[in-house]
Parts: sequence; structure tokens; C-alpha cells
Amino acid sequence: MVDKAHCKAGSVTAHYRRSMKLHGPELPAGLVEAIHGARQVVALTGAGISVESGVPTFRDAQSGLWARFKPEELATPEAFRRNPKIVWEWYAWRRQLVARVEPNAGHRALVEWERRVPHFTLITQNVDGLHQRAGSRDVIELHGNLARTRCFEEDVLVDRWEDTGEIPPRCPRCGGWLRPDVVWFNEMLPPEAIERALEASRACDVFLSIGTSALVHPAASLPFEASACGATVVEVNPDDTPLTAHVHFRLRGPAGVMLPTLLTALGPAPG
Ligand code: OAD
Repeated sequence: MVDKAHCKAGSVTAHYRRSMKLHGPELPAGLVEAIHGARQVVALTGAGISVESGVPTFRDAQSGLWARFKPEELATPEAFRRNPKIVWEWYAWRRQLVARVEPNAGHRALVEWERRVPHFTLITQNVDGLHQRAGSRDVIELHGNLARTRCFEEDVLVDRWEDTGEIPPRCPRCGGWLRPDVVWFNEMLPPEAIERALEASRACDVFLSIGTSALVHPAASLPFEASACGATVVEVNPDDTPLTAHVHFRLRGPAGVMLPTLLTALGPAPG
């Protein structure tokens, strides 16, 4: 639970009311009081936090990344074996898309939050690297990163290869295909990443689930772990998810609006 010794409830409430006059979206009653003074905060992010940068989510029926293909046609080792060219090109397209966009106010709010609390852990399912580009320092990447490449045969990172025009390119060591360093369905998450994520989730006072459909495990189980260990769980999402009914507070709106609003309501960083 939040260490109440760090919580000056009166001044927080006054600040909250003042800030609400300046900022549009309303925050749920009791939220600021419940999380002010938290010393260990975990934020779990999904594709939704990058929407305002111009990166589509996965599951939006019209424009989502899976709209034209089924995930199992693109994001599995079997799909890669079947059609390595189309899988490589799909990730190359996403890499180009991400290179053209910038982090948004939601990413930046998490950088600021990290600065304000003694222990802040950012866990992301995103492979776009936008948290790091915004300035977040220690990001736990559960699903890898588009910017990295590894050998499909040897499972080692590769940062240079000869461009012969062949797609996918070949590993300079063993001649096997190269693949993006992302986690596909039916693959294990990096063990160290999931261990650190679980540990932080079980130890935190406040757990923020931001812009994720909360459908893909094990990431989707992290807020439940946090809640079971006494954390206040807050969801930031314009839509309902399977997690919504289980959270203590929900901020129904875009992350790029709700996170800066919440930070402002929490007041300035402790001097
Ligand atoms: P999804 O596409 O499943 O969900 C995105 C969520 O973001 C939805 O719940 C939206 O309502 C929400 N959303 C949309 N706009 C938002 C905004 N501006 N602010 C906040 N939320 C917003 O993406 P993920 O939950 O990240 O895995 O998907 C999880 C994993 O499934 C991905 O990492 C990927 C995918 O298959 C792999 O590729 C292994």
C-alpha cells in the first residue's frame, strides 16, 4: 500500500481541485489521494500508448496492425519458416513507420514520473523503442525491440550483415536467416525480463496498466499479481478491457491526455 506518511492529503486535494479547473478530463474521486506518496510505481504499457504518436494498435478492427493479416500468419516462428520474406517485410515496414514518428505526451509523462518517485519500473509490451527515445532509462522490454535483429538459427543478436538484396538477409556467421529480435506467439519471453517484471509488480504500491488490451499473457497477469500483493491498480484506456472490472481506478481516455493530467494533479516533484 501507499506509505501514508508521505501523503499530505489536504494539500494534495487542494492541488487536485485547482488543477482540475485548468485541465479538462476529470479524474476519479480518491485517485490522487490513493496514489500520492507512492514510493514504488510500476507502469505496464501496450500499443495504446503509441497511438498518439501515429503507431496503430494491434487489434483495432479497421486500422490495427493485425487488420489485414492474422497474427499467426505473421508473428509466429512457423509463419517465418513458411514465408520468411513476408514476415521480414512486415517488420521492416513497422520499423520504417516507427522511425518516422516521435514519442508523445504519454511517453513523456512516464519519463517525468520516473524522475519523481524513488522506484519506478517501466514494463512495456511495445517493440517500438518510443519509451527509450522519450528518455525512459530502464525499460523492461517483454516482447523485444524492432530495432534489433538476431539469427533465427543460432538465436544470437546480429548487428551487421551484408546487403545482398536477399530477403530476409543472411547471418554473417552461419548463413541462416535473420529475424527481428521480437517475441512471437508460441515463443518464450526473455526470462530475465519477465522475472524482473514479476518482482517489481509484486513489490509496488501503485500499478498503472496503460494502453493495453490486457489479453496477452504473461503481461496481462502482472496487474493481478500487483493487486494480490496490495498495490493500487489504475487502468488508462479509452475502452474497457478484461482488466477493467478488477482495477481500483480507471482513467477512461487517451494516455497522452490522462497521464499528464494525473501527473499535474499529483503536484510537483518532492523538493
Ligand atoms: P492491443 O492492440 O491489443 O491493445 C491496445 C489497447 O490500447 C486497446 O485496449 C485500446 O483500447 C487502447 N488504446 C487505444 N488508443 C489508446 C490511447 N490513445 N491511449 C491509451 N490506450 C489506447 O495492444 P497490446 O495490448 O499492446 O504481442 O497487445 C499486446 C500484445 O499483443 C502485443 O505486444 C503484441 C500483440 O499481439 C506480440 O506481438 C507478441
